[in-house]
Amino acid sequence: MIFVTGGAGFIGANFVLDWLAENDEPVVNIDKLTYAGNLESLASLQEDNRHIFAQGDIGDAGLMSELLEKYQPRAVLNFAAESHVDRSIHGPEAFVQTNVVGTFHLLEAIRAYWNKLEGTRKADFRLLHVSTDEVYGSLAADDPAFTEEHRYEPNSPYSASKAASDHLVRSYHHTYGLPVLTTNCSNNYGPFHFPEKLIPLIIVNALAGKSLPIYGDGQQIRDWLYVKDHCSAIRRVLKAGTTGETYNVGGWNEKPNLDIVHLVCSLLDELCPRADKQGYAEQISFVTDRLGHDRRYAIDARKIERELGWKPAETFETGIRKTVQWYLDNQGWVANVQSGGYRDWVEKNYQDKIG
Ligand code: NAD
Ligand code: TYD
Repeated sequence: MIFVTGGAGFIGANFVLDWLAENDEPVVNIDKLTYAGNLESLASLQEDNRHIFAQGDIGDAGLMSELLEKYQPRAVLNFAAESHVDRSIHGPEAFVQTNVVGTFHLLEAIRAYWNKLEGTRKADFRLLHVSTDEVYGSLAADDPAFTEEHRYEPNSPYSASKAASDHLVRSYHHTYGLPVLTTNCSNNYGPFHFPEKLIPLIIVNALAGKSLPIYGDGQQIRDWLYVKDHCSAIRRVLKAGTTGETYNVGGWNEKPNLDIVHLVCSLLDELCPRADKQGYAEQISFVTDRLGHDRRYAIDARKIERELGWKPAETFETGIRKTVQWYLDNQGWVANVQSGGYRDWVEKNYQDKIG
């Protein structure tokens, strides 16, 4: 079996669903269930005994050691993190605690567990650490995209804490020989995305008749990847990646924020027109820029394509259409997130399942 940490979050939940759709190898999902953890995203696995959920903190080395000893996984995939840049600006401490200190304790628990393994079980064990392109900092308009050799220049408390975690993971390979893999991915979008991030926020606010806040001039560029493509990249790196290596994952989809918002508005105009027949773009509102806002991210994903044969399956046009449709079809999920009702899901549905 494998361990997934942070598997009740946006990418982690998509990964668990994707993993169990692709094969029968069980998943132990360890998640602290912060505001971003939502077990309702995994409701379809409620009766599926291939999914074992344990509420816990990656920074709790005792608990992590216990779970490792109990389940003897062949791999740990670390998605758990504080992930929202704006929150890191308002309150960086949780980012240092989970992303830096938490990753350190997780590494210590894994190192102790791995040291006791023998033979092929030891050689085949993997820790796959999921990271972000934001560790590379910001690009000028005509700079080449980030390769794996780009120097780390994190600019927000979020990206600095992720950079620190990447360095710790790297050091455990170099120093102790722990078989690690690191992926640095661009901005994801898709189902189960918490509506504090740009794309789900725009969809949800548009449908609620609220304003669509664009930070600054809206010309900041991000490189967008459909979340299921990120999941397939992680599966590929886990299977075939070389330990100690890092792999950039991206969708070759650089777009300014304002273009993204206009695209989402025009899809909503088509799929769910406003009652007054006005376009959703009417609701766009330019607001004060984010502090230290990075101007441009762009991923050069040629290494993972060349060495591991991975490529994204979706274009931005196909992925964003699926995403908008998913939010239209899953307004109950959104309503429960907004009311906080998703937090009761644990008591209602999982009380007897928590390990
Ligand atoms: P998310 O915020 O939606 O989910 C994070 C999950 O981790 C939540 O379920 C939360 O409860 C859990 N968690 C937080 N602290 C924990 C702790 N101390 N112990 C155990 N669980 C904890 O984040 P996401 O968007 O799904 O991102 C997942 C990973 O991918 C993160 O490491 C993030 O840095 C990275 N990443 C995200 C993106 C993106 O666009 N969202 C892009 C590249 C990389
Ligand atoms: P976000 O989804 O927070 O991801 P990240 O900061 O990790 O890239 O933001 C994506 C882009 O959208 C980023 O440039 C900030 C911008 N943005 C807005 O313009 N308005 C918003 O309300 C939000 C949440 C983000």
